[in-house]
Amino acid sequence: MSTATAAPAGDIVVDAVDKEFRVKGGVYTALKDVAFRIPAGGFATLLGPSGCGKSTLLRIIADVIPATRGTVDLFGRTPAQARTDAQFGFVFQDPVLLPWRSALANVELPLQVRGVPRSERRERAMAMLRLVGLEGFEGHQPAKLSGGMARRVAIARALIEEPRVLFLDEPFNGLDELRRRQMNAEVQRIWEATGTTAILVTHNVAEAVFLSDTVFVMGRNPGRIVATREIDLPRPRALDSMLSDDFVAHERALTDLLSRSYEDLTDE
Ligand SMILES: Nc1ncnc2c1ncn2[C@@H]1O[C@H](COP(=O)(O)OP(=O)(O)O)[C@@H](O)[C@H]1O
Ligand SMILES: [Mg+2]
Repeated sequence: MSTATAAPAGDIVVDAVDKEFRVKGGVYTALKDVAFRIPAGGFATLLGPSGCGKSTLLRIIADVIPATRGTVDLFGRTPAQARTDAQFGFVFQDPVLLPWRSALANVELPLQVRGVPRSERRERAMAMLRLVGLEGFEGHQPAKLSGGMARRVAIARALIEEPRVLFLDEPFNGLDELRRRQMNAEVQRIWEATGTTAILVTHNVAEAVFLSDTVFVMGRNPGRIVATREIDLPRPRALDSMLSDDFVAHERALTDLLSRSYEDLTDE
């Protein structure tokens, strides 16, 4: 890797990334010339319409799939190196918990896979459940938890190995608006408590403004970043700050940018 793209201060640097998928009848360009930097400990959001390549970009950064061209540098490592060192935590749209295991046993699982002794993993999983506000629910199986609680278990599991990067791919879809906001506040609190770098994928503008230091607005055909907006609102942010003039101004600007991305959708 060239030193020009190295990220000395623990930053994540994405540079000139293209992604092409081979499809029937040729090649589909899912991402074109994507470049950005996320400082260590920052909260960045990829905001864009469905199909613009948000999940694809997240997967490339997280070493799930390779880029066709370009580089990704995570604190001086390749995605493959960072993943091997257990530097990643994932939360997806569907919490995918093991139904026969208790909340505690679900959170413990990544440590169990790594062979961490039982007493240590119990202790760490309990601490994580406390952090996400689920003390007292550790013995419950997923079916006995609400949707919001199941997502908190998924977040606790993602954080159990103290990842340097937390990937959140539309983790609150399907929750009603009130629960979603409560989860946004929880995620902000947990992110601040852990110091992890967070990358969120969402199409929810209010969520993007509430949580982010920086929002990357994506467009489609090809998937690319069309605008970058710094959210300079003071932290910690209270939910009722969503009604403030400054918050609403950010929301309005991003909605404007996003609606232009939606106008580009010609093949739906
Ligand atoms: N494995 C694949 N093969 C072909 N096309 C794909 C593949 N994965 C994603 N795509 C296409 O790439 C585009 C971006 O997908 P995705 O990253 O899931 O979008 P988003 O997460 O923004 O909704 C979509 O048009 C999708 O159909
Ligand atoms: Mg997606």
